[in-house]
Amino acid sequence: MNSSPWWKEATIYQIYPRSFFDSNGDGEGDLPGVTSKLDYVKSLGVDAIWLSPFYTSPNKDGGYDVANPRDVDPRFGNLEDAKELIAHAHQRDLRVIADIVPNHFSDQHVWFQAALKAGPGSKERERFHFYDAHADGTPPNNWISIFGGPSWTQVEDGQFYLHLFDSSQPDLNWENPEVNADFEKTLRFWIDLGVDGFRIDVAHGLIKEDVLTNHPDPQGLSDALRLDVAMDFEKRNALLLTVPFFDRQGVHEIYRKWRKLFDSYGERNIMAVAEAWVHPPVNATRYVRADELHQVFNFDLLTAEFNSDVLFDVVERSISLNATVNALPTWALSNHDSPRVASRIGDEQARALALFVFGLPGSTYVFAGQELGLPDGQLQDSDRQDPMFFRSNGPSKGRDGARVPLPWSGDTTPFGFSTGKPWLPISQSWKDFTVEHELTDPKSSLHLYKNALELRKEFLVGAGGITWLESSRHGSKEDALLSYSRGPITVVMNLSDSVQECDAAGKLLIVSGANVDARDGKKVIPARSTAWFLT
Ligand code: GLC
Ligand code: CA
Repeated sequence: MNSSPWWKEATIYQIYPRSFFDSNGDGEGDLPGVTSKLDYVKSLGVDAIWLSPFYTSPNKDGGYDVANPRDVDPRFGNLEDAKELIAHAHQRDLRVIADIVPNHFSDQHVWFQAALKAGPGSKERERFHFYDAHADGTPPNNWISIFGGPSWTQVEDGQFYLHLFDSSQPDLNWENPEVNADFEKTLRFWIDLGVDGFRIDVAHGLIKEDVLTNHPDPQGLSDALRLDVAMDFEKRNALLLTVPFFDRQGVHEIYRKWRKLFDSYGERNIMAVAEAWVHPPVNATRYVRADELHQVFNFDLLTAEFNSDVLFDVVERSISLNATVNALPTWALSNHDSPRVASRIGDEQARALALFVFGLPGSTYVFAGQELGLPDGQLQDSDRQDPMFFRSNGPSKGRDGARVPLPWSGDTTPFGFSTGKPWLPISQSWKDFTVEHELTDPKSSLHLYKNALELRKEFLVGAGGITWLESSRHGSKEDALLSYSRGPITVVMNLSDSVQECDAAGKLLIVSGANVDARDGKKVIPARSTAWFLT
């Protein structure tokens, strides 16, 4: 066993509690539901769970609108349920990562309600970004919310407050020391309750600059920030360099303070991972300097094409940039904010990419349901609940497709998720995606994930860097194979639609698609598949 901290090369399973398992038949997943499925989670071979928010919330943005960060929303249970979940996870040697949301509160938080009452110029308003309207009545600036529409909402007395997301999510003013003091209290609250780490929501957004200055191209900027809007590469890059509300250098002072707080718990090895969509990519490494956070998400694989040049660049860049600050990269193919990987690049490709990524150094995040190969749920507009859908007023259907509850068992929807009506409908076509069904099928995605994670633990955790295999990089644009070796393992991914021969030596350990054949001393890798060989 090596002595590196638990999070260094962990596999972390993201649970969206509302969609995981419903213990009381109200149609929404809850904390006791998660606790009751921890044996399943453990059986996957993951090291930790990250729970999306379960705090008191009017749930306008799936709980990322927090009204009380130190309590549990009744829809999810109560604090005792949270303690129980943590205790049961720890009994199984699973760590627990909580999601902390420091960029904004819900408008139902007592601070915001007090700010509304106290009026302009009050200390209560200084905890948020309240400003007077311009003389002509327009908002303080022209920024557009990430979810669409203006970033400002006017209150009765005429002042506006800033919200980078939904109008129900007023941004906090991090220049006010009370804000950090309150968040440190929240961090300690959950650490004292037993959590092992934090995922920091919108970690790059806390500090704003030039709040009273208009952006020269607010619509362009808003489009550039949205993954579902196509844009010329150069144009997007240029716009992303001009964001006045993300990745300001002041955020790093906050994380330096937090790091001291985490380190004060010594051997508990409390970790934090930043959700920081920043540009250019080198900026992400600043969040994981030695005296800041432990990990930063690499989101490139959420959008990368299934193409060898693209994937080579993403992997190479992430490993080498992180190395400059002595950190390891993170990998994520899906999360609650983006289309599921199987829908985005195809089912076989998604399996191949997962197996390719499980071999890499660093931490891997798996979004619950990804192990089943789930596609996005097919929803009617009348089912949708995401504020992004309502505010964008246009092409964005929002993120509900990735948030459809998990199918567990049986032949009929809702497949054991709930005895009631699930909060988003589960299509009958998911019959063959249930945990129960996949457990009976040795060729299922679930078995692939379980086997791969076991092999990863056995052969790769702590095995150091990768060596790209020369033979797979002929420099042509459309290389069929992408291959690396790491420790005793050679990983070969065939991205093409036909079988490909390769020279990889060793014994086949696992393959994401059909069988690997041998021909004239060469290995034949099936189309759209990855294989691991042990030398
Ligand atoms: C993060 C969350 C997302 C949420 C947003 C606002 O990006 O992942 O779900 O809507 O922050 O809190
Ligand atoms: Ca429930």
